Formats: sequence, C-alpha cells, structure tokens
Amino acid sequence: MRGDTRAGLLWLPAVAGVGVAAGLGVYGRLHHPSRLSIFGELGRPIVIKAGLTTAVVILAVVQLISAFALYGRLPSRSWTPALHRWSGRLAVLLSLPVAVHCLYAFGFGFDSPRVLAHSVLGCLFYGAFAAKMLIVSQPDNGRAWVLPLAGGLVFTALAGLWLTSALWFFVS
Ligand code: HEM
Repeated sequence: MRGDTRAGLLWLPAVAGVGVAAGLGVYGRLHHPSRLSIFGELGRPIVIKAGLTTAVVILAVVQLISAFALYGRLPSRSWTPALHRWSGRLAVLLSLPVAVHCLYAFGFGFDSPRVLAHSVLGCLFYGAFAAKMLIVSQPDNGRAWVLPLAGGLVFTALAGLWLTSALWFFVS
C-alpha cells in the first residue's frame, strides 16, 4: 500500500511535465510573433542567443559529470552537490531570456523539420525540467531510476535544441 502511494506520486511530475511542455507549445502557436527583441540594443539576438545556449550546454555538461560523481560513478568532493545545484540553477536562468525571445519573436515554428524539432525540444526541455524538479522534491518515491531518467531527458532535449539552433547558426 505504501509502495503504491509512493509510486502514485510519480504521476504528479509526469502530468506537470506534460502540462508545462504542452502549455508552452500552445502559447507558441496562439501568440502572434513579434519582432520586438527583449535584448534591446545589446546586439543581434541570434548571436546573443547562440552564445547563451552554448553556455547553457556547457553548464549542462557540468551537471552530467557532477551527477555521475553523486551516483558514485566518478570521484566526488564535498563541493560536488553544491556544484550540481548551482550549475543547474545558472543553466536554467541563462536559458530563460533565450526561450522568452523564441516564444515571443517566433512562437512554435513549423517552417522546416529543423525548426519543428527545435520547437518541440524547447517545450520538452522545460517540461522535463519541471518534472525533474518535482521528482527531486520527493526523494522517497520508491523508484531510484526516475531521477536519472528525468535528468537524462532534460540533457537530451537541451543537446537537441542546441544542435538545431546554436550549432546550426555557427556552421551555416
Ligand atoms: C520554449 C520553447 C521554444 C520554442 C517554441 C522555440 C522556437 C524557436 C524558433 C521557431 C526559432 C527560429 C528558428 C529559425 O527560424 O531558424 C528559434 C530559434 C532559436 N532558439 Fe528556440 N525555442 C524554444 C526554446 C529554446 C530554448 C530553451 C533555447 C536555449 C536554451 C533556444 C535557443 C534558440 C536559439 C539559439 C535560436 C537561434 C537564434 C534565433 O533564430 O533567434 N530555444 N526558437
């Protein structure tokens, strides 16, 4: 019974994650794209966004390595938990202005398979992140594999959205 209750708690992160991803997608479809840039006079939005997204990916690699250390797969230090937490917080913080610009200036794009994949992965990234945060807040959910799965999903979505946006910009 207790196990059922704990497993039942996993529905909350799953439903919240799908809700966040779908909510962003629906907003991106309904909102009329506006060319007004939230970056003002700082520079060309595409350059700022590609740079910020690359910084987010570097921080996500720090997240991945420190997660392996926390799971005992790599040597860990006393500061490894703090490194994991702060690199994650900074990564999400840096991603926010980029995503706001994407949603505000472009919305959910269908123009090409690359743009569609990027839009889907952008929504998935925040959905998986929301689910992961809820899973972290319930460490006793009775499923040890859930947290690495959610973390892996966040990382994979980010890697995909970087490939379909920042890397595409740098090489094209
Ligand atoms: C929240 C959901 C998201 C949606 C719906 C979305 C949608 C889009 C669209 C339609 C484009 C234009 C693509 C083109 O025409 O080439 C774009 C560009 C871009 N996106 Fe996103 N995006 C999202 C999230 C993100 C996130 C989380 C990041 C990075 C952390 C990101 C990084 C970029 C970059 C670097 C570009 C290229 C720069 C530009 O064209 O302005 N996006 N996005």
